[in-house]
Amino acid sequence: MSESTENPAPAEITEAAVTAAVTAALAAISTAADSAALKAASREHAGEASPLSRLNALMRSVSKEQKAAAGKLVGQARGRVTQALAAREAEIGAAEAAAKLAAETVDVTAAASTWHAGARHPLALLQERVADVFVAMGWEVAEGPELESEWFNFDALNFDEDHPARAMQDTFFIDPPEAHLVLRTHTSPVQMRALLSRELPVYVVAPGRVYRTDELDATHTPVFHQIEGIAVDKGLTMAHLRGTLDHFVQALFGPEAKVRLRPNYFPFTEPSAELDVWHPTFKGGARWIEWGGCGMVNANVLRSAGIDPEVYSGFAFGVGVERALMFRNDVKDMHDMVEGDARFSQQYGMTV
Ligand code: PHE
Repeated sequence: MSESTENPAPAEITEAAVTAAVTAALAAISTAADSAALKAASREHAGEASPLSRLNALMRSVSKEQKAAAGKLVGQARGRVTQALAAREAEIGAAEAAAKLAAETVDVTAAASTWHAGARHPLALLQERVADVFVAMGWEVAEGPELESEWFNFDALNFDEDHPARAMQDTFFIDPPEAHLVLRTHTSPVQMRALLSRELPVYVVAPGRVYRTDELDATHTPVFHQIEGIAVDKGLTMAHLRGTLDHFVQALFGPEAKVRLRPNYFPFTEPSAELDVWHPTFKGGARWIEWGGCGMVNANVLRSAGIDPEVYSGFAFGVGVERALMFRNDVKDMHDMVEGDARFSQQYGMTV
C-alpha cells in the first residue's frame, strides 16, 4: 500500500487542494521519528508523484489571468513544505548525533584496570651481578639444594659429630630425624658438591638461599642469601684468595674498596679468616664491615672429596647478600627485603 493512493490526484489548483496537500505534508513531516521516516515523508509529500508536484504540473493548464495567483499559492505551499523538511531534518540529525554520542560515551572517571609493572628483587640482581664478576674471571656458577643432607651441610665440611657449630648455626632440622635432612645453614655444602661433580681444577661461585632459626627483625631474617666461592687447583695460596677478594669487592663496591682478613675459625677452612670490607662511601661513613668468612680449604675436606691435599690446594669464601645490600644500598630494615612490596624493588630498576 502506498500513501499516494490515499492522495487522490487533484484535478485543478484550488486553495482547498493546496491546503490539504500542505496539511498532510506537515503532519507527515512533524511525526517522522527518524531520518528514514523523514525521507519517506519527503518522497511522499515533496517528491515527483506528490500531490504538490502534481498541483504544480497543473499550472500548465491554468488560464493566463489566474496563473499568478495559482503560482503564488502552489509556490508558497511548496516553500513551506521544503522549509518544514529542512527544519525537521536538522532536528532529527541533532537528535541522532546526540544519541550516537551517548551510546559511545566513555566514562573517563571509571576505575581503570591499570597494569602495574613488577620489578626484579635487588637481592636477585645483586647475586647476578656477583656471578657476572666471577664468570668474567672464568669461574662457573653452580647451585645446590636448599633442603640439604646433614652430611653435605656439616660432616663433609669437617664439622665434628657433636661440634657446637652444628647448634651454633641455628639449624632447621627436618623430620623425621633419621632422614638427616636440614635446611642448609650456609652455601658451603656447594663446595663439596662442586668438588664431587667436577674435574679439577674447580673454580665455582654459588649464590643461593640459606636458613637459620632467627626471628625476623631489622637485622635478621630466618631466610637469607649467601654467595659461596671455591677454587681448588695446584699451587693455590692465601695470596690467590686475597687477590680474588680484592677484585671481587672492587668490582662490586668500587675501585676504592678494600679487604681485611682477621683470623677466625671454621671447621672447613684452615687457616680461616673473617672477611671485612671497607669503602669510603659506605652508608654510615667509611668503615670496616664484617661481611663473611674465608680461608684455605681444609685438607680433610679435600680428602672427603677424594682429592690429594699434597697435590692440590684451594681457597673458599662465603659472604652475605642481604648484608651487602644493607651497607651498599643503604637498606636499613630487613623487613623491606622480605615483604615483597614491588615498590621496594622498583626503586632499583633493572640494575643494582
Ligand atoms: N659458611 C660460612 C658461614 O656461613 C662462611 C664461610 C664460607 C667461611 C667459606 C669460610 C669459607 O659463616
